[in-house]
Amino acid sequence: MTDGIDWPALRAAAEAQLAHAYAPYSDFRVAAAVLAIDGRVFTGVNVENASYGLTVCAERNAIAAAVGHGARVLQALVVVCSGDAAPAPCGACRQVLAEFPPAFELRCYARDGQELALRSDQLLPHAFGASTFER
Ligand code: THU
Repeated sequence: MTDGIDWPALRAAAEAQLAHAYAPYSDFRVAAAVLAIDGRVFTGVNVENASYGLTVCAERNAIAAAVGHGARVLQALVVVCSGDAAPAPCGACRQVLAEFPPAFELRCYARDGQELALRSDQLLPHAFGASTFER
């Protein structure tokens, strides 16, 4: 816990939700757990739709849960999945992560435990943001 984040606990929180993923089309289940600065943990799973483009990723659902409970400053995010490769966030999720600075750490885990460690501010260089259109 050199960074003060209990990664095993956050990973366990995500793993506990994986069975709730709704992925009847891809059969690729994903769950995410986000740790807010106040210590609260919020989770989300991917929710697919017969109109494929309406699918929402686990990361975005976890962030939406956090924001919906008043948590906008985030410390860490874990993503777990049912596949054999660590699931780096998709482009849409990167844009949503960029919405909530300051930067925070992410760890993504494959089913077998293979890990990918990232920082939210490394994911989307030159992200579109409010500063682009603020007057
Ligand atoms: N998915 C996520 O939930 N998070 C990611 O980081 C990548 C992809 C979901 C979307 C879709 O339900 C399934 O994985 C296959 O793309």
